[in-house]
Amino acid sequence: MKHPLIAPSLLAADFGNLQRDVEMVNASEADWHHIDVMDGVFVPNISYGMPVVKAIQKYATKPLDVHLMIVDPDRYIETFAKLGAATLTVHYEACTHLHRTIQAIKAHGMKAGVALNPHTNVNLLEDTIQDIDMVLIMSVNPGFGGQTFIENTFNKIKALKELILRNKAKTLIEIDGGVTNKNAKDLVEAGADVLVAGSFVFKSQDPVRTISELKG
Ligand code: DX5
Ligand code: ZN
Repeated sequence: MKHPLIAPSLLAADFGNLQRDVEMVNASEADWHHIDVMDGVFVPNISYGMPVVKAIQKYATKPLDVHLMIVDPDRYIETFAKLGAATLTVHYEACTHLHRTIQAIKAHGMKAGVALNPHTNVNLLEDTIQDIDMVLIMSVNPGFGGQTFIENTFNKIKALKELILRNKAKTLIEIDGGVTNKNAKDLVEAGADVLVAGSFVFKSQDPVRTISELKG
């Protein structure tokens, strides 16, 4: 079985020891740092903003995988490019002109990701998939860490994989929410390329080892 890319979500880190937790990810087998930005409007929670992302960037040695859960993300594309985001993911539900947003992200030198809420059908990406570097399938409703994984995610992964192959696209599939050692292997078998894990990593006794286990 192929090994997924692992992106620990710093939302579950100890913010009083953020440098320590970023350095833990640096020293682990993780591939990316997953950074959740929430505005309290698109989702019912506010996480952290640019000054904190800047602090993370200062210590991070791996690519920054930035997940924007905000309305009108076009306003901040340049800002996140300057903050060093490698991938910038916006929500399908937050973009009136998704194609334009994807082009703008790429024009700023970043990979373009599109996130889908649990209720959003993957086939809505039929006309944009060739332009999208990564699709993030939300396997919980966005806004909080530590929620229960939604099983229908497996059907979505399979449908998305078919869509990608049908269009001869190279899009990666990232799964975000409720990922644990109980579902990681099945997610990869279904077609997932990248696994985000917050609580399962940071609340574990030995996060470095937990990351290694998820990597498989
Ligand atoms: C939720 C965020 C996730 C979150 C995942 O809105 O997008 O990245 O941190 O946390 P866990 O792994 O605890 O479900
Ligand atoms: Zn996320």
